[in-house]
Formats: sequence, C-alpha cells, structure tokens
Amino acid sequence: MSNDDPEPLQSLSTTALSPSEVGKLIQTNPPNIEYVQYGISLEPKYLPQMRALIAKDLSEPYSIYVYRYFLYQWPELCFFAVDTTTEDKDLVAVVICKLEKHRGGPLRGYIAMLATKDAYRGKGLAKTLVSKAIDLMIVKDADEIALETEETNVAAMKLYESLGFLRSKKLHRYYLNGNSAYRLLLYLKPGVASMPLDEFYDPYGYGDLPPSAQDDPRYPSGQEDKDDLFSRGII
Ligand SMILES: CC(C)(COP(=O)(O)OP(=O)(O)OC[C@H]1O[C@@H](n2cnc3c(N)ncnc32)[C@H](O)[C@@H]1OP(=O)(O)O)[C@@H](O)C(=O)NCCC(=O)NCCS
Repeated sequence: MSNDDPEPLQSLSTTALSPSEVGKLIQTNPPNIEYVQYGISLEPKYLPQMRALIAKDLSEPYSIYVYRYFLYQWPELCFFAVDTTTEDKDLVAVVICKLEKHRGGPLRGYIAMLATKDAYRGKGLAKTLVSKAIDLMIVKDADEIALETEETNVAAMKLYESLGFLRSKKLHRYYLNGNSAYRLLLYLKPGVASMPLDEFYDPYGYGDLPPSAQDDPRYPSGQEDKDDLFSRGII
C-alpha cells in the first residue's frame, strides 16, 4: 500500500461482535485457576475426578460407559478447570458435551454434564467452561445447542439463560428421581428452528444411545416416549 492510499476502513459498528468474541467477554480467569481442554491422555488422572464431582452433584447415575461414550468421541468438547495451588492440579469444574446431527436435521451440540465443586462456585467457572464449549461448537459449524436441566435448578437455569438459551420444552418426570426438566436450546443460526427433521431417521433413537443405555432398564423396548428417550441427559 502506498502512502497515498486511504487508510483501510474501520468497522463502523463497535457492537457487532461475533458469537465467539461475545464468549470471550464472559469468560473469567480467577487467580489460581487454569482451564484445560480434555484429551484421551488425561483420562487416568482426570476421569476419576470428573466422575466423583458429577456423581456428587448430578441426580442421574452415569456408568463409566456413558463417560466414555462422550469422551472417546468428542474429547475436545470437554473442558475442565483445575486449581493450580493444589499439589496435583485438582479438577474443580467440568463440562462434557457432544456434537452430531439431530434426526438428520441441524448439527446439534449437546451439553451433557456440568458441575463445579462447592468451594469454587460463584467465580464464573461453569459459565466460562460452557462458553468455551459453545465457542468450539460454533467453530465446528453447529446450528444449535441443547441440554436438559431440572426445573428446580435455579443456578443452572440462570446460567444458561444468561448465555441466551431458551426454554423449548418441559419434560415431565424426566429424571430418575421423578423431577421434571426443561429442554433448553440456543440457536446459533437464523432459520434453524424451522429446519426439517427426518421423521424416519432412527425413529427410536437407538443410534444415538450409548451401548450402556441400550440395555438400561430405564429404556424398556417399545414403551418409551421416543423423544424423551432420544434426549435423556445421558445421550
Ligand atoms: C450450576 C453450577 C454448575 C454453576 O457453577 P458455578 O461455577 O458456580 O457458576 P458460575 O459462577 O459460572 O455462574 C454463572 C451464572 O450462573 C448463575 N448462577 C450460578 N450460581 C447461582 C446461584 N446459586 N443462584 C442463582 N444463579 C446462579 C448466575 O447467573 C451466574 O452469573 P452471575 O454470577 O453473572 O450472576 C453449580 O452450581 C453446580 O455444580 N451445581 C450442581 C450441578 C448442576 O446443577 N449442574 C448443572 C446441570 S444442568
């Protein structure tokens, strides 16, 4: 560019941030906390800690197969936070997700599990982890992101609604403890809500169930509500 050329135009809008830029704005970096993207090599050290944290805080019991279903197929969509002041960099918060086509329609990210240790809550760790997962799903061209949460879980509802998730459906007596859930959705592209689904695509949702759940007594063959079956928190 010669000295006579005009200065390149600056963006006229100061508010037009991309979704991932918005994500970075809400991510926090509290002292002594490090965020880590999961990888298979971290399984021996961190999978037991993830299981212990999630087993304590989530009402649904998840077998090792359910963790592996997610972590083997979508390791990069698991993020966790560690406390760097602990000798072994202990895990203090985690999010586990997946990303795949939903009934032959939109590419759907799914947030399966999220928890923060009691002593580390209120510091923005969960919101940061979810935001990192959302950022990566956007990079991977996701159309929408879904999850379920107990209707009584005020902290989770507020967290997700503050990120733009909307309540799409109430799922009565969804959890094993009898509690109902809301399905929350975040649309990432215009027109996704009206994207056609393939009615004949995997009508019972078995293709999306981890092997452990296919024999799970909670899913008696032929009696299930296929929509709820498909969207149970464990798949
Ligand atoms: C829900 C949970 C993961 C939040 O973890 P956290 O690290 O404390 O959350 P953050 O500090 O990132 O909070 C982010 C937002 O969530 C909301 N929030 C978090 N805790 C809240 C509480 N106790 N009451 C109301 N809102 C709360 C707030 O909107 C907060 O944003 P703000 O601080 O700007 O107001 C944590 O409470 C937890 O592990 N609960 C048990 C497991 C669980 O319910 N998991 C979710 C399953 S869907």
